Amino acid sequence: MELIRTIAEAHDLVEKIRLSGRLIGLVPTMGALHRGHLMLVDEIRDHVDVIIMSIFVNPLQFGPNEDFERYPRTLDSDVELAESVGVDYIFCPDVSEMYARNMKTRVVVSDLPDHLCGLSRPGHFDGVTTVVSKLFNILKPHVAIFGQKDVQQAIIIQKMVKDLSIDVKVLTLPIVREVDGLAMSSRNSYLSETDRLEAVKLFQSLNFAKQMIVTGEHDLSLIINAIKNFITTGNSAEIDYISLVDTETLEELTELKEGSSVLIAIAVKFGKTRLIDNLTVKIPVFEHVE
Ligand code: PAJ
Repeated sequence: MELIRTIAEAHDLVEKIRLSGRLIGLVPTMGALHRGHLMLVDEIRDHVDVIIMSIFVNPLQFGPNEDFERYPRTLDSDVELAESVGVDYIFCPDVSEMYARNMKTRVVVSDLPDHLCGLSRPGHFDGVTTVVSKLFNILKPHVAIFGQKDVQQAIIIQKMVKDLSIDVKVLTLPIVREVDGLAMSSRNSYLSETDRLEAVKLFQSLNFAKQMIVTGEHDLSLIINAIKNFITTGNSAEIDYISLVDTETLEELTELKEGSSVLIAIAVKFGKTRLIDNLTVKIPVFEHVE
């Protein structure tokens, strides 16, 4: 496996691969790799000939009071892990290589960032779409893969690809979880022992809400309150949002329509650590007796 650190090197490599008729798969990451990231590699493998993983902690997608500085950077162990699952190249540029000092351009998808994480992280998704566009331009993948753990991100990138006619197929991967259900995340390493135990309530609360919906509960505020109580009882967890939204537009639902799907998305802070999780639930059709 080879590390590529400059855009010029990447362009040369990608041209050679493309000229040889091989298909390129891209797995964009910010490193601190865990099994979720490795499953993305597993999933893309059958679709392509060469796998490039990018590891770049992207300053553009962090707010001024967020964790850019302390985000875990573990390149040596990432390289070992990536190699063990068959990644062919790692693209790991410096910030100065990716962003010239006088960079003036941003790629902005409208509306979709005005919900869920976009509300508490202004500018975050503009940073994501800008870096992902750059990665697409630099590495010219035929296929790229994103996790549903960051469901809003995946939806926004798919929209960007469609709107800008970018010639890349976007795949998504279901959320990879720890044995107790906690969604894997590089940020889980920030959790104290007690918070780690409490954090399992995120997934449990989503399942609890699913149970309410599939057994006929239609009252949105009742469901949201149930999730809130489930998560916050007996600890200091702080809810950022609990939202039941349309699976495509991400707009807050005002009612649960039988036969349609609802995306339940939550963000919760344990101390300084903000965790997200989500679950899509199909609302059953009940027989209505006249
Ligand atoms: P990062 O948080 O490192 O995640 C890289 C990819 O792994 C994303 O597509 C994310 O959704 C996926 N992923 C993370 N945890 C997962 C899990 N438990 N199950 C399934 N997939 C999971 O997301 C980013 O980096 C950045 O925003 C990036 C797209 C690289 C742009 O900077």
